[in-house]
Amino acid sequence: MISNRTASMFLSLLLVWLVFSAACKRESTRESEEPVQWPEVPGYAAMPIPADNPMTRAKVELGRQLYYDVRLSGDGSRSCYSCHLQEYGLTDGLPKAVGAYQVALPRRSPTLWNIGYHTEFYWDGRSGSLEAQAKAAWTGGNMGVSGRDGRPSTEDICRNLMAIPGYARQFREVFPEVGCTADTVVQAIAAFERTLVIPADSPWIRFRQGDSAALSEDARRGWEIFSGKARCTNCHDGVLLTDLQYHNVGIGWDPRKKEMTDKGRFAVTGQERDLGAFKTPTLLDVSRRTHFFHDGSVDSLEKAVDLMLAGGIPNPQLDTANLQPVKLTPQERSDLLAFLRALNVEYRIQPPALP
Ligand code: HEC
Ligand code: HEC
Repeated sequence: MISNRTASMFLSLLLVWLVFSAACKRESTRESEEPVQWPEVPGYAAMPIPADNPMTRAKVELGRQLYYDVRLSGDGSRSCYSCHLQEYGLTDGLPKAVGAYQVALPRRSPTLWNIGYHTEFYWDGRSGSLEAQAKAAWTGGNMGVSGRDGRPSTEDICRNLMAIPGYARQFREVFPEVGCTADTVVQAIAAFERTLVIPADSPWIRFRQGDSAALSEDARRGWEIFSGKARCTNCHDGVLLTDLQYHNVGIGWDPRKKEMTDKGRFAVTGQERDLGAFKTPTLLDVSRRTHFFHDGSVDSLEKAVDLMLAGGIPNPQLDTANLQPVKLTPQERSDLLAFLRALNVEYRIQPPALP
């Protein structure tokens, strides 16, 4: 028979345990919901963070691992990072990207610097959020997790990830209700991508903040050309060096067929004037790219700049309001190139240890 004393001792122990475990739970919830401070571009509007995907330290950390993990792709061949590589200025060193299962993709990998400030994604802006874009990249040609033709689905990949104790622990901590799903994976990846911000001590940012010595003398002269005579800032504008708008500069014009090989923004809006228009790429880290333009058709920075200086490639939709031929002296051209080369960005994200 249980005595009253034993029963009350048992009850008080139970009470202590309940209070203690509740406190622990609160503690761990608090830790996983701890907001994270990440660098933002000084002098630019605050980065828009979706209300349903707040930035927390634990989520960014999980997203960083997922972003670098080849086990996310259908054939285990590549991660997000594989096509947005540090040594190529967050592009991939190829004219056009090659996805999982060696699928040839129609466009070049764009850089992801400051991508959290964009509101429309891809060269044609067809995706409305980083989360949606990441899901499209994951389940589409880039990563090949389609769930069709014998290829794994997002559920298959999640099952594999949850079998890895380090991932299982993090998913339960960051997404306690649902764990690993197609949505939570891309939420974590998008949170990490919002930290891909150019460091505030980069020469370009220091220069914009008024420290003129941050750029060399020839780069400073190049900036005067870029923002003055050559009117590059008509489109490569502001601290991000892009107006985030779409312009036709003639890349992809087929003079024989007299049509645009890639319809660009037109595919999204159906507006004639958007035929062959593409999002202005930022020029940050531009000299690390090996191929230029949405189709990777130009293989050196010099040639890309000369093409822009020539006023683009003539075609019916060419944006002549913003782009006209400019004649530079050899010295001016070399200063302009010195400015573009001074826009390099130091990548300080260490590849994470994967669980
Ligand atoms: C096989 C190479 C490849 C892989 C792998 C890849 N990407 Fe990309 N990424 C591209 C290409 C190519 C584009 C441009 C496609 C277009 O515009 O139609 C792109 C575009 C993007 C954009 C839009 C950039 C902009 O300026 O609008 C983001 C963001 C992005 N990728 C993130 C990711 C994430 C996250 C993953 C992993 C889930 C990923 N990428 C995996 C090649 C790749
Ligand atoms: C009318 C707007 C506009 C103007 C003005 C403009 N650009 Fe561009 N620039 C673009 C667009 C849009 C692209 C991408 C075109 C594409 O890929 O189809 C681009 C691409 C580039 C690229 C290649 C970047 C990459 O990642 O592929 C370089 C380099 C470049 N521009 C430099 C310049 C310079 C230098 C000037 C001034 C001489 C200039 N641009 C003027 C809109 C403009």
